[in-house]
Amino acid sequence: MSRTLTLALSKGRIFEETLPLLARCGIEPQEHPESSRKLIIGTNREDLRLLIVRASDVPTYVEYGGADLGVAGRDVLLEYGGAGLYDPLDLGIARCRLMVAGPCGARVDLPRPRVATKFVELTRQYFAAQGRQAEIIKLYGSMELAPLVGMADLIVDLVDTGNTLRANGLEPLETITQISSRLVVNKAALKREHRRIGALIDDLAAAAAAGRAA
Ligand code: ATP
Ligand code: PRP
Repeated sequence: MSRTLTLALSKGRIFEETLPLLARCGIEPQEHPESSRKLIIGTNREDLRLLIVRASDVPTYVEYGGADLGVAGRDVLLEYGGAGLYDPLDLGIARCRLMVAGPCGARVDLPRPRVATKFVELTRQYFAAQGRQAEIIKLYGSMELAPLVGMADLIVDLVDTGNTLRANGLEPLETITQISSRLVVNKAALKREHRRIGALIDDLAAAAAAGRAA
């Protein structure tokens, strides 16, 4: 029997939005991570299983061979620095923008703003590329709070509808980059399992194209 392929996904948005793509490829998980505590979930294909990991851990699992493939936001991949990963396919899911935001009406041209974000590397690169100084404060979530409590002047976070910013008296200021989720592949696994992984990439590419057209 052939070796089982492992696909790493995160719970929530990425799992939910990957499910229809997998379904178009004829792949059905045997359990749902919201109702099961299992971190390894089988599928109807006996040569494919799913690994449930934190969104920001997907590139690590794939690079170090804990998973053969994974689905991760472009934000996560850019922040991780994906030189060790093969990144063949934009799945067109979990679309949003990475943005600079700040309090409504506040000055945006501060000489050395404090910027709260979980995307430290992307933020550093963005400000440096523009020759702007910034003091970056690392947070792990709820970045919107930082300006409200006077801890930061600006935030760098993901924005989709803008509802979270609005609900907290903030406004979008600058778009850093457009984000969607991508399929990433372990390079050694691709060499070893070229036929099977290649076929899965082709199937997912067709499913993503059908999803975009729908
Ligand atoms: P972690 O658990 O590692 O902290 P997380 O809580 O950010 O990750 P999710 O909120 O599930 O994980 O987000 C997963 C991915 O979905 C993000 O990396 C991003 O690419 C995308 N995303 C995040 N927020 C939105 C949004 N509001 N709309 C659309 N896509 C989003
Ligand atoms: C993301 C992001 C913003 C929000 C933006 O958070 O960090 O807070 O979505 O979406 P909106 O513009 O449509 O309001 P998420 O909902 O994933 O919560 P989490 O970061 O706590 O997982």
